[in-house]
Amino acid sequence: MGKVSIRHPSRGDIPELIGLQRRAYPPELPHWSRSSFAQQQETFPQGQIVAELDGRLVGCASSLVVLWNDWCDAHTWKEITAGGSFDNHDPVGLTLYGAEVFVDPALRGQGVGHALYEGRRRLCRAMNLKRIIACGRLPGYHRFADQLSAEDYAKRVIWGDLRDQVLSFQLNEGFHYCGVIGDYLPEDPESCGNASLIVWLNPDYDPTQPTRIPEEDIL
Ligand SMILES: CC(C)(COP(=O)(O)OP(=O)(O)OC[C@H]1O[C@@H](n2cnc3c(N)ncnc32)[C@H](O)[C@@H]1OP(=O)(O)O)[C@@H](O)C(=O)NCCC(=O)NCCS
Repeated sequence: MGKVSIRHPSRGDIPELIGLQRRAYPPELPHWSRSSFAQQQETFPQGQIVAELDGRLVGCASSLVVLWNDWCDAHTWKEITAGGSFDNHDPVGLTLYGAEVFVDPALRGQGVGHALYEGRRRLCRAMNLKRIIACGRLPGYHRFADQLSAEDYAKRVIWGDLRDQVLSFQLNEGFHYCGVIGDYLPEDPESCGNASLIVWLNPDYDPTQPTRIPEEDIL
């Protein structure tokens, strides 16, 4: 198996990222445009992470900082990412919001997702943010949707009786499940629109210290 490394993306990576995101998801799902990726890099370069395996770009994790109280009652993927522009990024917030994570379908199960999540945790610590929150797809749910509610499906994944490509991975990465958000991504046929709200609390968060944008490369 090859070596996984992570770094921040550049403008030159955008065509590859567009292709990778399209390959990573069912075709019905919305995808980001060249200008969305460019705006994300412009707005919050530290929050954009890509993974390489043997020098090839194979995964991406995109994040922004939000004031969580503004979003906690209800939100959709489109709303919290401002349609992919990250216009909602607010450096005053204490929450790193995971907007996207995707890995080349041919190269999953080799630790690429783990490396991207490790990069996010490193960023959260370096910025002295309180937590990482994300809403994860539930791509295995459609197989059980005629028998189980999305909440009951998620419980079975948490209990270890079912495996979900995304939720099982996120639980193993140390995230806690906080419930299901319906209509998070209505176009998602596999999750039937649902997502699980998950959180990772930064054990090093120091409320007496301000948050900071790292100037050095912390990846
Ligand atoms: C979710 C996703 C990003 C995970 O990426 P990944 O690169 O497969 O993640 P990893 O390889 O680090 O971990 C996946 C599994 O492989 C296992 N694994 C990792 N390295 C391994 C190795 N060397 N040998 C055996 N197993 C390994 C992990 O333990 C993990 O198991 P788990 O799911 O039971 O916890 C990927 O499946 C994906 O892109 N999905 C589609 C896009 C998507 O829906 N993204 C989520 C948006 S909310």
